[in-house]
Amino acid sequence: MEERVITSEELDEDKAFQNIRPDTIDQYIGQEEVKQNIKVYIESAKMRGESLDHVLLYGPPGLGKTTLANIIANELGVNLRTASGPSIEKPGDLAAILSTLEKNDVLFIDEIHRMPSYIEEILYPAMEDYALDIIFGSEGNSRSIRINLPPFTLVGATTRIGDLTSPLRDRFGIISKLQFYTVEELTKIVERTSKVLEVPIEHDAARELASRSRGTPRIANRLFKRVRDFALVEGNGVIDLEITKKALTRLKIDEKGLDDTDHQLLLAIIQKFNGGPVGIESVASAIGEEVTTIEDVYEPYLLQQGYLKRTPRGRMVTNLAYEHLKIEYQNSIFN
Ligand SMILES: Nc1ncnc2c1ncn2[C@@H]1O[C@H](COP(=O)(O)OP(=O)(O)O)[C@@H](O)[C@H]1O
Ligand SMILES: [Mg+2]
Repeated sequence: MEERVITSEELDEDKAFQNIRPDTIDQYIGQEEVKQNIKVYIESAKMRGESLDHVLLYGPPGLGKTTLANIIANELGVNLRTASGPSIEKPGDLAAILSTLEKNDVLFIDEIHRMPSYIEEILYPAMEDYALDIIFGSEGNSRSIRINLPPFTLVGATTRIGDLTSPLRDRFGIISKLQFYTVEELTKIVERTSKVLEVPIEHDAARELASRSRGTPRIANRLFKRVRDFALVEGNGVIDLEITKKALTRLKIDEKGLDDTDHQLLLAIIQKFNGGPVGIESVASAIGEEVTTIEDVYEPYLLQQGYLKRTPRGRMVTNLAYEHLKIEYQNSIFN
Protein backbone atom coordinates (compact mmCIF):
# COMPACT_ATOMS: atom_id res chain seq x y z
CA MET A 1 0.00 0.00 0.00
CA GLU A 2 1.11 3.50 -0.79
CA GLU A 3 2.59 5.48 2.08
CA ARG A 4 0.02 7.86 3.48
CA VAL A 5 1.06 11.06 5.16
CA ILE A 6 -2.38 11.82 6.40
CA THR A 7 -2.87 8.69 8.45
CA SER A 8 -3.40 9.64 12.03
CA GLU A 9 -2.20 6.30 13.32
CA GLU A 10 1.11 6.46 15.10
CA LEU A 11 4.03 5.47 12.89
CA ASP A 12 7.54 4.45 13.96
CA GLU A 13 8.72 7.73 12.54
CA ASP A 14 6.65 9.59 15.12
CA LYS A 15 8.27 7.64 17.92
CA ALA A 16 11.68 8.84 16.77
CA PHE A 17 10.48 12.40 17.40
CA GLN A 18 9.35 11.91 20.99
CA ASN A 19 11.08 15.18 21.92
CA ILE A 20 8.41 17.22 20.16
CA ARG A 21 5.87 15.83 22.59
CA PRO A 22 5.07 18.44 25.25
CA ASP A 23 5.74 17.24 28.80
CA THR A 24 4.05 19.83 30.98
CA ILE A 25 0.43 20.87 30.96
CA ASP A 26 1.34 24.43 30.05
CA GLN A 27 3.15 23.26 26.91
CA TYR A 28 0.06 21.32 25.90
CA ILE A 29 -1.68 23.59 23.41
CA GLY A 30 -5.48 23.82 23.08
CA GLN A 31 -8.11 21.50 24.64
CA GLU A 32 -8.67 24.39 27.08
CA GLU A 33 -11.66 22.98 28.89
CA VAL A 34 -10.16 19.53 29.43
CA LYS A 35 -6.85 21.07 30.42
CA GLN A 36 -8.25 23.56 32.93
CA ASN A 37 -10.35 20.90 34.62
CA ILE A 38 -7.56 18.34 34.79
CA LYS A 39 -5.27 21.00 36.23
CA VAL A 40 -7.71 21.50 39.12
CA TYR A 41 -8.07 17.77 39.74
CA ILE A 42 -4.28 17.28 39.74
CA GLU A 43 -3.77 20.19 42.12
CA SER A 44 -6.46 18.90 44.43
CA ALA A 45 -5.05 15.36 44.45
CA LYS A 46 -1.62 16.75 45.32
CA MET A 47 -3.02 18.89 48.14
CA ARG A 48 -4.81 15.87 49.58
CA GLY A 49 -1.80 13.64 49.06
CA GLU A 50 -4.12 11.13 47.44
CA SER A 51 -4.21 9.52 44.03
CA LEU A 52 -5.99 11.29 41.19
CA ASP A 53 -9.36 9.82 40.27
CA HIS A 54 -9.30 7.45 37.26
CA VAL A 55 -9.29 9.30 33.94
CA LEU A 56 -10.75 8.20 30.60
CA LEU A 57 -9.60 10.12 27.51
CA TYR A 58 -11.38 9.57 24.23
CA GLY A 59 -11.38 10.99 20.73
CA PRO A 60 -9.95 10.33 17.27
CA PRO A 61 -6.31 9.24 16.87
CA GLY A 62 -3.56 11.86 17.00
CA LEU A 63 -5.34 14.42 19.18
CA GLY A 64 -3.06 14.07 22.18
CA LYS A 65 -4.39 11.30 24.45
CA THR A 66 -1.05 9.57 25.02
CA THR A 67 0.63 12.96 25.42
CA LEU A 68 -1.87 13.99 28.07
CA ALA A 69 -1.47 10.71 29.96
CA ASN A 70 2.28 11.36 30.14
CA ILE A 71 1.69 14.93 31.26
CA ILE A 72 -0.69 13.83 34.02
CA ALA A 73 1.96 11.52 35.50
CA ASN A 74 4.59 14.26 35.14
CA GLU A 75 2.48 16.90 36.81
CA LEU A 76 1.57 14.53 39.64
CA GLY A 77 5.26 13.74 40.05
CA VAL A 78 4.66 9.98 39.92
CA ASN A 79 5.77 7.05 37.76
CA LEU A 80 3.93 6.15 34.57
CA ARG A 81 3.39 2.52 33.65
CA THR A 82 2.10 1.85 30.16
CA ALA A 83 0.15 -1.03 28.66
CA SER A 84 -2.22 -1.41 25.78
CA GLY A 85 -5.57 -3.19 25.74
CA PRO A 86 -4.72 -5.91 23.21
CA SER A 87 -1.37 -6.68 24.86
CA ILE A 88 -3.01 -7.71 28.13
CA GLU A 89 -4.03 -11.24 27.25
CA LYS A 90 -3.92 -13.14 30.52
CA PRO A 91 -4.95 -12.15 34.05
CA GLY A 92 -1.28 -12.61 34.96
CA ASP A 93 -0.27 -9.88 32.49
CA LEU A 94 -2.42 -7.36 34.29
CA ALA A 95 -1.43 -8.64 37.73
CA ALA A 96 2.23 -8.25 36.79
CA ILE A 97 1.75 -4.62 35.79
CA LEU A 98 -0.42 -3.80 38.79
CA SER A 99 2.11 -5.28 41.19
CA THR A 100 4.79 -2.82 40.03
CA LEU A 101 2.71 0.22 40.99
CA GLU A 102 3.86 2.51 43.76
CA LYS A 103 1.66 4.87 45.75
CA ASN A 104 -0.29 7.28 43.50
CA ASP A 105 1.38 6.07 40.28
CA VAL A 106 -0.34 6.36 36.91
CA LEU A 107 -1.17 3.23 34.94
CA PHE A 108 -1.89 4.16 31.33
CA ILE A 109 -3.87 1.64 29.28
CA ASP A 110 -4.05 2.66 25.64
CA GLU A 111 -6.81 1.27 23.40
CA ILE A 112 -8.59 0.21 26.54
CA HIS A 113 -11.66 -0.83 24.51
CA ARG A 114 -9.64 -3.75 23.13
CA MET A 115 -9.03 -5.31 26.52
CA PRO A 116 -10.63 -8.78 26.88
CA SER A 117 -13.67 -8.80 29.17
CA TYR A 118 -12.25 -11.32 31.61
CA ILE A 119 -9.37 -8.90 32.19
CA GLU A 120 -11.85 -6.12 32.81
CA GLU A 121 -13.28 -8.09 35.71
CA ILE A 122 -9.92 -8.11 37.45
CA LEU A 123 -9.66 -4.41 36.88
CA TYR A 124 -12.92 -3.54 38.66
CA PRO A 125 -11.78 -4.31 42.25
CA ALA A 126 -8.37 -2.86 41.39
CA MET A 127 -9.98 0.43 40.37
CA GLU A 128 -12.54 0.51 43.16
CA ASP A 129 -10.81 -0.94 46.19
CA TYR A 130 -7.15 -1.05 45.09
CA ALA A 131 -7.27 -4.80 45.42
CA LEU A 132 -6.34 -7.72 43.27
CA ASP A 133 -8.39 -10.89 43.63
CA ILE A 134 -6.50 -13.99 42.64
CA ILE A 135 -8.51 -17.14 42.17
CA PHE A 136 -7.08 -20.62 42.80
CA GLY A 137 -8.35 -24.05 42.10
CA SER A 138 -10.96 -25.30 39.71
CA GLU A 139 -14.60 -24.50 39.34
CA GLY A 140 -16.74 -25.60 42.26
CA ASN A 141 -13.67 -25.80 44.46
CA SER A 142 -11.99 -22.46 44.08
CA ARG A 143 -10.62 -20.06 46.64
CA SER A 144 -9.53 -16.56 46.16
CA ILE A 145 -7.08 -14.39 47.98
CA ARG A 146 -7.04 -10.65 47.93
CA ILE A 147 -3.82 -8.70 47.50
CA ASN A 148 -3.87 -5.04 48.40
CA LEU A 149 -2.47 -2.55 45.94
CA PRO A 150 -1.31 0.97 46.62
CA PRO A 151 -3.73 3.69 45.51
CA PHE A 152 -3.13 4.47 41.86
CA THR A 153 -4.70 6.28 38.91
CA LEU A 154 -5.81 4.43 35.83
CA VAL A 155 -5.69 6.58 32.71
CA GLY A 156 -7.48 4.88 29.84
CA ALA A 157 -7.44 6.07 26.25
CA THR A 158 -9.77 5.05 23.47
CA THR A 159 -10.92 6.07 20.02
CA ARG A 160 -14.19 4.19 20.52
CA ILE A 161 -15.90 5.04 23.77
CA GLY A 162 -19.03 3.26 22.54
CA ASP A 163 -17.13 -0.04 22.63
CA LEU A 164 -16.46 0.23 26.35
CA THR A 165 -18.77 -1.72 28.63
CA SER A 166 -20.75 0.50 30.95
CA PRO A 167 -19.42 -1.09 34.17
CA LEU A 168 -15.91 -0.14 33.03
CA ARG A 169 -16.90 3.33 31.88
CA ASP A 170 -18.71 4.00 35.14
CA ARG A 171 -15.56 3.38 37.15
CA PHE A 172 -13.83 6.42 35.70
CA GLY A 173 -14.36 9.56 37.79
CA ILE A 174 -13.07 11.86 35.05
CA ILE A 175 -14.14 11.35 31.44
CA SER A 176 -12.76 13.81 28.89
CA LYS A 177 -13.38 14.04 25.19
CA LEU A 178 -10.59 15.54 23.10
CA GLN A 179 -11.71 17.81 20.26
CA PHE A 180 -10.22 18.64 16.90
CA TYR A 181 -7.87 21.63 17.14
CA THR A 182 -8.45 25.05 15.62
CA VAL A 183 -6.14 26.42 12.95
CA GLU A 184 -4.75 28.90 15.52
CA GLU A 185 -3.92 26.10 17.95
CA LEU A 186 -2.34 23.95 15.27
CA THR A 187 -0.29 26.93 14.07
CA LYS A 188 1.11 27.24 17.61
CA ILE A 189 1.85 23.51 17.66
CA VAL A 190 3.68 23.70 14.32
CA GLU A 191 5.66 26.71 15.50
CA ARG A 192 6.56 24.93 18.70
CA THR A 193 7.70 21.86 16.75
CA SER A 194 9.78 24.12 14.51
CA LYS A 195 11.54 25.55 17.59
CA VAL A 196 12.13 22.15 19.16
CA LEU A 197 13.57 20.70 15.94
CA GLU A 198 15.42 23.97 15.21
CA VAL A 199 13.95 24.11 11.72
CA PRO A 200 12.52 27.61 11.13
CA ILE A 201 9.16 28.04 9.42
CA GLU A 202 7.59 31.33 8.35
CA HIS A 203 4.36 32.26 10.12
CA ASP A 204 2.09 32.18 7.06
CA ALA A 205 3.56 28.82 6.09
CA ALA A 206 2.86 27.45 9.57
CA ARG A 207 -0.71 28.67 9.27
CA GLU A 208 -1.15 27.07 5.86
CA LEU A 209 0.17 23.78 7.17
CA ALA A 210 -2.10 24.02 10.19
CA SER A 211 -5.18 24.65 8.10
CA ARG A 212 -4.48 21.52 6.08
CA SER A 213 -3.83 19.12 8.97
CA ARG A 214 -7.36 17.86 9.63
CA GLY A 215 -7.48 19.46 13.06
CA THR A 216 -4.92 16.89 14.24
CA PRO A 217 -1.51 17.63 15.86
CA ARG A 218 -0.03 14.31 14.77
CA ILE A 219 -0.80 15.13 11.13
CA ALA A 220 0.48 18.70 11.53
CA ASN A 221 3.80 17.45 12.89
CA ARG A 222 4.11 14.84 10.19
CA LEU A 223 3.35 17.31 7.40
CA PHE A 224 5.88 19.68 8.95
CA LYS A 225 8.60 17.10 8.44
CA ARG A 226 7.58 16.39 4.84
CA VAL A 227 7.49 20.10 4.01
CA ARG A 228 10.92 20.46 5.59
CA ASP A 229 12.18 17.74 3.22
CA PHE A 230 10.84 19.62 0.20
CA ALA A 231 12.32 22.91 1.46
CA LEU A 232 15.68 21.25 1.89
CA VAL A 233 15.83 19.40 -1.41
CA GLU A 234 13.77 21.53 -3.78
CA GLY A 235 13.87 24.93 -2.09
CA ASN A 236 16.55 26.89 -0.27
CA GLY A 237 15.96 25.30 3.13
CA VAL A 238 13.55 28.01 4.28
CA ILE A 239 10.00 26.81 4.91
CA ASP A 240 7.93 29.57 3.36
CA LEU A 241 4.39 29.67 2.04
CA GLU A 242 5.35 28.80 -1.52
CA ILE A 243 7.30 25.63 -0.77
CA THR A 244 4.63 24.61 1.75
CA LYS A 245 1.86 24.84 -0.83
CA LYS A 246 3.99 23.05 -3.39
CA ALA A 247 4.81 20.22 -0.99
CA LEU A 248 1.19 19.78 0.11
CA THR A 249 0.05 19.62 -3.50
CA ARG A 250 2.65 16.97 -4.18
CA LEU A 251 1.35 15.05 -1.18
CA LYS A 252 -2.15 15.29 -2.70
CA ILE A 253 -3.60 17.19 0.21
CA ASP A 254 -6.18 19.70 -0.90
CA GLU A 255 -6.76 23.22 0.42
CA LYS A 256 -9.10 21.93 3.10
CA GLY A 257 -6.66 19.25 4.20
CA LEU A 258 -8.57 16.36 2.65
CA ASP A 259 -6.49 13.60 1.10
CA ASP A 260 -7.06 10.95 -1.55
CA THR A 261 -9.01 8.64 0.70
CA ASP A 262 -11.31 11.43 1.85
CA HIS A 263 -12.00 12.22 -1.82
CA GLN A 264 -12.58 8.57 -2.68
CA LEU A 265 -14.97 8.21 0.22
CA LEU A 266 -17.07 11.25 -0.67
CA LEU A 267 -16.95 10.48 -4.39
CA ALA A 268 -18.00 6.88 -3.86
CA ILE A 269 -21.08 7.98 -1.93
CA ILE A 270 -21.92 10.51 -4.64
CA GLN A 271 -21.26 8.39 -7.71
CA LYS A 272 -22.15 4.90 -6.55
CA PHE A 273 -24.87 5.62 -4.03
CA ASN A 274 -26.43 8.80 -5.33
CA GLY A 275 -25.15 10.85 -2.40
CA GLY A 276 -26.58 8.42 0.16
CA PRO A 277 -27.96 7.49 2.58
CA VAL A 278 -25.82 4.39 2.41
CA GLY A 279 -24.60 1.90 5.02
CA ILE A 280 -21.02 2.20 6.20
CA GLU A 281 -20.26 -1.40 5.13
CA SER A 282 -21.15 -0.57 1.52
CA VAL A 283 -18.96 2.53 1.58
CA ALA A 284 -16.11 0.52 3.07
CA SER A 285 -16.23 -2.15 0.41
CA ALA A 286 -16.60 0.44 -2.36
CA ILE A 287 -13.30 2.06 -1.42
CA GLY A 288 -11.51 -1.00 -0.03
CA GLU A 289 -11.06 0.23 3.53
CA GLU A 290 -11.94 -1.32 6.87
CA VAL A 291 -15.16 -0.12 8.47
CA THR A 292 -13.30 0.68 11.70
CA THR A 293 -10.67 2.71 9.83
CA ILE A 294 -13.38 4.78 8.22
CA GLU A 295 -15.21 5.21 11.52
CA ASP A 296 -12.15 6.02 13.61
CA VAL A 297 -9.84 7.85 11.21
CA TYR A 298 -11.73 9.32 8.25
CA GLU A 299 -15.29 9.96 9.24
CA PRO A 300 -14.88 12.04 12.41
CA TYR A 301 -13.21 14.93 10.60
CA LEU A 302 -15.55 14.79 7.60
CA LEU A 303 -18.52 14.85 9.98
CA GLN A 304 -17.07 17.67 12.07
CA GLN A 305 -16.36 19.76 8.98
CA GLY A 306 -19.84 19.09 7.63
CA TYR A 307 -19.00 17.15 4.45
CA LEU A 308 -20.75 14.09 5.71
CA LYS A 309 -23.89 13.46 7.73
CA ARG A 310 -24.97 10.47 9.76
CA THR A 311 -28.63 9.60 9.42
CA PRO A 312 -30.63 6.66 10.77
CA ARG A 313 -30.52 5.19 7.24
CA GLY A 314 -26.79 5.63 6.75
CA ARG A 315 -24.17 8.14 5.64
CA MET A 316 -25.04 11.05 3.37
CA VAL A 317 -22.80 13.60 1.75
CA THR A 318 -23.81 17.23 2.17
CA ASN A 319 -24.07 20.15 -0.20
CA LEU A 320 -20.71 21.31 1.08
CA ALA A 321 -19.11 18.11 -0.23
CA TYR A 322 -20.61 18.65 -3.69
CA GLU A 323 -19.34 22.23 -3.66
CA HIS A 324 -15.91 21.24 -2.47
CA LEU A 325 -15.55 18.51 -5.08
CA LYS A 326 -17.05 20.86 -7.69
CA ILE A 327 -19.78 18.40 -8.60
CA GLU A 328 -23.19 19.65 -9.58
CA TYR A 329 -25.68 18.84 -6.85
CA GLN A 330 -28.54 16.75 -8.26
CA ASN A 331 -31.38 18.25 -6.33
CA SER A 332 -34.22 15.91 -5.64
CA ILE A 333 -37.03 18.40 -6.35
CA PHE A 334 -37.74 16.56 -9.61
CA ASN A 335 -38.06 13.14 -8.06
N1 LIG B 1 -2.02 19.62 22.76
C1 LIG B 1 -0.89 19.38 22.10
N2 LIG B 1 0.09 20.32 22.03
C2 LIG B 1 1.21 20.07 21.33
N3 LIG B 1 1.47 18.93 20.68
C3 LIG B 1 0.54 17.96 20.72
C4 LIG B 1 -0.67 18.14 21.44
N4 LIG B 1 -1.41 17.02 21.30
C5 LIG B 1 -0.69 16.18 20.54
N5 LIG B 1 0.49 16.73 20.18
C6 LIG B 1 1.48 16.12 19.31
O1 LIG B 1 0.82 15.20 18.45
C7 LIG B 1 1.39 13.90 18.54
C8 LIG B 1 0.27 12.89 18.64
O2 LIG B 1 -0.33 12.94 19.92
P1 LIG B 1 -0.67 11.61 20.77
O3 LIG B 1 -0.71 12.00 22.19
O4 LIG B 1 0.25 10.51 20.41
O5 LIG B 1 -2.14 11.33 20.20
P2 LIG B 1 -3.16 10.12 20.53
O6 LIG B 1 -2.58 9.35 21.67
O7 LIG B 1 -4.45 10.80 20.87
O8 LIG B 1 -3.29 9.31 19.27
C9 LIG B 1 2.30 13.91 19.76
O9 LIG B 1 3.52 13.31 19.46
C10 LIG B 1 2.54 15.36 20.09
O10 LIG B 1 3.79 15.76 19.62
MG1 LIG C 1 -1.92 7.37 21.61
